Amino acid sequence: MTAIRLATPVDAPALARLRYDFRASIGEAIEDRGAFIKRCTEWMAERLTGPTPWRCWVAEHDGAITGHLWLYMLEKIPNPTPEAEWHAYITNIYVDPAHRGGAGTALVEAAIAFAREHRADSAILWPTEGSRSLYHRFGFAQPSDILEAIITPGR
Ligand SMILES: CC(C)(COP(=O)(O)OP(=O)(O)OC[C@H]1O[C@@H](n2cnc3c(N)ncnc32)[C@H](O)[C@@H]1OP(=O)(O)O)[C@@H](O)C(=O)NCCC(=O)NCCS
Repeated sequence: MTAIRLATPVDAPALARLRYDFRASIGEAIEDRGAFIKRCTEWMAERLTGPTPWRCWVAEHDGAITGHLWLYMLEKIPNPTPEAEWHAYITNIYVDPAHRGGAGTALVEAAIAFAREHRADSAILWPTEGSRSLYHRFGFAQPSDILEAIITPGR
């Protein structure tokens, strides 16, 4: 049975391995796996420690981490109108192929509940092609009011 919980710094090595598996599955890795996992573990452990704008939820099966989702609370400038003062940037959603089937939905549910609870104005993410239907079910849609400029090509 898959459970969803918030990640802690202790989870960082497992999360870094999942990050590598995810990104190397959709593009050519140019960094050695071991070196990347070390660098990413440090990065993640730091962002899961203390007061931080980052949150990470993990999917866990029989005590093993099988998936994760990261969320960054992006601050807006204080506003004298009723407009909410945060955006929720959701990223790095990945479930190990052997444990797919419901876990992805449960992770997105947890993130959206958090964003709602913290009165985010909107949630944004860049979907992979195959995952669009999942996000559409949570109300994600193509915005008509955002402009994006690609500063460094290669995404
Ligand atoms: C996206 C992902 C996290 C969903 O996990 P899951 O446990 O299979 O999710 P659920 O069973 O709750 O939801 C099923 C939805 O996931 C998405 N999905 C399923 N297989 C997928 C795949 N191979 N790649 C991308 N998305 C997929 C679809 O939107 C699917 O909905 P549909 O059946 O209506 O098409 C998982 O498939 C995955 O890790 N894919 C590879 C990484 C990725 O593309 N992540 C999204 C980054 S924005």
